Amino acid sequence: MIELHKGLNERALEIAVPGIRVFANKVAQLPDGINLTIGEPDFPTPDRVKAAAVAAIQHNRTGYSHNAGLLELRESVSRFFLQKYGFLYDPKTEVLITSGASEGIDSTLRTILEEGDEVILPAPIYSGYEPVIRLAGAKPVYLDTSQTGFVPDAAALERLITERTKAVILNYPSNPTGATLSRETMDDLVAVLSKHNVFIVSDEIYSENTYESRHISFAEYPEIRDQLILIHGLSKSHSMTGWRIGFVMGPAPLIGHILKVHLSNSICASLPGQYAAIEALDHCRDVPAEMNKDYIRRRDYVIGRLRQMGLRMTVPTGAFYVFPSIQSTGLSSFKFATKLLDEKHVAVVPGDSFTENGEGYVRISYANSMDNLVNAMDRLEAFIRELPAGDAPAIL
Ligand SMILES: Cc1ncc(COP(=O)(O)O)c(C=O)c1O
Repeated sequence: MIELHKGLNERALEIAVPGIRVFANKVAQLPDGINLTIGEPDFPTPDRVKAAAVAAIQHNRTGYSHNAGLLELRESVSRFFLQKYGFLYDPKTEVLITSGASEGIDSTLRTILEEGDEVILPAPIYSGYEPVIRLAGAKPVYLDTSQTGFVPDAAALERLITERTKAVILNYPSNPTGATLSRETMDDLVAVLSKHNVFIVSDEIYSENTYESRHISFAEYPEIRDQLILIHGLSKSHSMTGWRIGFVMGPAPLIGHILKVHLSNSICASLPGQYAAIEALDHCRDVPAEMNKDYIRRRDYVIGRLRQMGLRMTVPTGAFYVFPSIQSTGLSSFKFATKLLDEKHVAVVPGDSFTENGEGYVRISYANSMDNLVNAMDRLEAFIRELPAGDAPAIL
């Protein structure tokens, strides 16, 4: 019998199961559990998108596509960003269709990273990047944004750049904090990053879930175009998490190399899914704005309730997460989330799942029905009220 632990890749052995999974799995076993860990829209995929996939299947469009994805889809992607945001990527050479943004992140990072490289990430940040960085033998270097409203300070970021820095990963709107970047902050970041020989990987998958103003993309800055790799997809914008459709955009020579890694990984994205994606991009552009109306209502409700409980937070302006501080309870974020789940059957994600800079916070997803949110907030309020005196926050 093979001794598994001896035969496996050291780096793979060291990857931890994401904190989100642990709590989501536990709450799934509780009949009255409410799962606020979910990172996907609770709306169905739009009907016409579903119909496009059904038609594709009925017409036997069920084989492989070009490795880079259907040209027709790449043209839809290119047109979408040109018409919506004013920047152009050539569908023939600068756009790659991947199996979700996740595969795009994986193929991109495995194309650019080498052993010993450093990657700077403002944190707290989505937990999907670190394992890929580590598998490549590279090292994440986190910039703490918890004291700057979860927005990176350009000068502080520059201080972390060394001759080993290969890339900076940015994710705005942010998972887990819901922070977005102002034009001024982006100008400052671009001014710094354009001076350095580093890749900028900008994961803008939540771009359509931007609430207070228009999303600004790093692709709108010509001065960083040759160092920018844009990660995107339809999972969040069109409620298509299970369809596995993502996009990577960047300079042609770079996309050519990422394509090789991508094709040896997944050959191409699912073909019916690609036809569905064309429909989403060409004919369902208003869908995210419709969902946003609900997200904003839910966000405002959750924020209002959390404030009444004495919890503090930065108001999220994008994505569908609230990231309140639970420091006033004196509990660690893991203890808080575990106790809340055990006692009230409500699952949230401990902030330290998003690096140690997220310690002292929890992530609450409001991609959930209003009924569930009301019920969950009632339970959370009772939980906080029942905390021993020293642990309870002062009601504001
Ligand atoms: C910031 C971020 N990037 C990428 C992904 C993965 O997206 P996809 O479902 O397209 O692989 C997620 C999913 O939660 C995410 O939050």
